[in-house]
Amino acid sequence: MGGSIVGWGAYLPEQVVTNAHFERRLDTSDAWIVERTGIRERRMGGLSSTMAIAAGRRALERAGIAGDEVDLLIIATSTPDRAIPATSSLVHSELGLRGGAFDLNAACAGFAYALVVADGLMRMGHRSALVIGEDNLSHVTDQNDRSTAVLFGDGAAAVVIRANDRAENFIVAYDLGVDGSLTDLLYQNHGGFIQMEGREVFRRAVRTEVESITAVLDRADLKPTDIALFVPHQANLRIIEAVNSRIGFEMEHTAVVLNRTGNTSAASIPLALCDAAESGRLHDGDYVLMSGFGAGMTWASTIVRWGENL
Ligand code: ACO
Repeated sequence: MGGSIVGWGAYLPEQVVTNAHFERRLDTSDAWIVERTGIRERRMGGLSSTMAIAAGRRALERAGIAGDEVDLLIIATSTPDRAIPATSSLVHSELGLRGGAFDLNAACAGFAYALVVADGLMRMGHRSALVIGEDNLSHVTDQNDRSTAVLFGDGAAAVVIRANDRAENFIVAYDLGVDGSLTDLLYQNHGGFIQMEGREVFRRAVRTEVESITAVLDRADLKPTDIALFVPHQANLRIIEAVNSRIGFEMEHTAVVLNRTGNTSAASIPLALCDAAESGRLHDGDYVLMSGFGAGMTWASTIVRWGENL
């Protein structure tokens, strides 16, 4: 029993925060931010639940299915509105879904983790899953700290996966991992702001993504040139370029939205995926490789086949 993505939807808050905004407030410049990160603007504002509901609703509309046809909801987030209950409870109710719902926290790798979990549960009999990645890290970022303030933005994006009896599988191969000895590189304590050793996170991110992508390509018995679209976590353009040059992916086969969104954590991969789908870059049968890394340090890579008509 397989499955396929039959709907997608994104939501970005209305407030656009450009690099010029930080130039006016902090000892930084548009030139530094663009050169070191590739980010030109990001969106800020919005509750996690509100963003997730908006993205989820758009994905359901695109899929052409009613909420009560969905029997599984997973929300990847590190910034739930409340500690208890999970954001997914409210979203489940607002969208009129059926079945179980839970939040999953694997930081910026969360959406790729959630896809793998959804695939596993669908193999056990679920028929339709709504998987949402969302975060509003701007709420937990010190807007006076130039080393983190310029990096993060808010957003949400969702996909609907429907069981597909014709498809052999939804996830072709995956790799999940975590190295808990590195938690101090990137964390946020309750009530505090994000703390990050940027240079070390950068170094680890490149190394980890390259190892994880190599592992999934091997498991799927695919070459880099078999991948129609690489959808990396959108943290820093230089990380994406470094990974691409080591693996052999071309930028024209890579989804990039971070110039407009900043690092939106668990929303970043689905935002880039939705953008590619919306612009017609994906076709039935395409192999799509998603890869994320984040606080934990967590990582997740997965290859899926795009389209219903496999
Ligand atoms: N404007 C101007 N100067 C800055 C800024 C800024 N916004 N931020 C830092 N600097 C300065 C530093 O203070 C430092 O100055 P110094 O040399 O006088 O000490 C200098 O720039 C270089 O700092 P580095 O940290 O070495 O700069 P680097 O090139 O590594 O870029 C960055 C920093 C962009 C943070 C990069 O390291 C990075 O992207 N790291 C990965 C971050 C990441 O991916 N985080 C998210 C993980 S996902 C998750 O789970 C949320």
